Amino acid sequence: MAGELISGKAISKAIRGEVKEEVAKIVASGKRAPVLAVVLAGKDPASEIYVNNKKKACHKTGITSIEHILDEKISEKELITLIDKLNNDPDIDGILVQLPLPGKLHEHVVLEKISPTKDVDGFHPVNVGRLVANTPGLRPCTPAGIVEMLKRTGIELSGKKVIILGRSNIVGKPVATMLLHESCTVTICHSRTRGLKEICRRGDIIVAAIGKPKFVTKDMVKDGAVVIDVGINRTDNGLCGDADFENVKDVASYITPVPGGVGPMTIAMLMVNTLTAYKSATT
Ligand code: GUN
Repeated sequence: MAGELISGKAISKAIRGEVKEEVAKIVASGKRAPVLAVVLAGKDPASEIYVNNKKKACHKTGITSIEHILDEKISEKELITLIDKLNNDPDIDGILVQLPLPGKLHEHVVLEKISPTKDVDGFHPVNVGRLVANTPGLRPCTPAGIVEMLKRTGIELSGKKVIILGRSNIVGKPVATMLLHESCTVTICHSRTRGLKEICRRGDIIVAAIGKPKFVTKDMVKDGAVVIDVGINRTDNGLCGDADFENVKDVASYITPVPGGVGPMTIAMLMVNTLTAYKSATT
């Protein structure tokens, strides 16, 4: 089976268009536009690119973005003081602290300081709890983007066997929870999983989020399976995903490219979350 591409680029453009339309209506009614504060500590080159892409997406959708670029030596106390200030500022709707944090900063300590109502990444324990309980809350952007791209492609989820590679807090665990809520049967695999190939071959849908270039090979994928590639690996030959795209595409029914797949969806869902945070603060 020759796999059809799921274009995250096209789907994310449509979503950003919907956000843009709503933001334009808000502004036309005389209210201020939604505002996202992006905090980047240190000089991680990949993070700088991500933050720049987030800024561009805000600009295109009419969302105001305010950047806080901090020295890599910033103390936890100083960073928390900034977050408190943003929490208490009624003109800030969303707060995003780009990960990874440099040096000795503790991610969980910092993320817990962000007000759950402004937590557009959905990483605060309150939002994690709401996700698990399946009650309204801000959902992590990459997992939300994956579910959205599957739905908008018309892929039926109920009853499907999903194999997730990776158990991170950012992708693996939340996407497993979201797909469970879509009535999928979910298996999470990780570095200690035994018989990985056989498990993967059972999957109707495979979500690869392990950060290993071309890890998912053709022999791990059932004929007609859907492959969602979350990996963004920088190699000597340029960017590549966690799936061996050139070969896997021949057996998959649908496959996401890297770049242009999940990446743009993450940013589109960040715009959606910022608008949601704005609406819940102002209505
Ligand atoms: N680093 C890698 N992915 C993400 C993300 O989705 N949000 C934040 N804040 N940092 C990241």
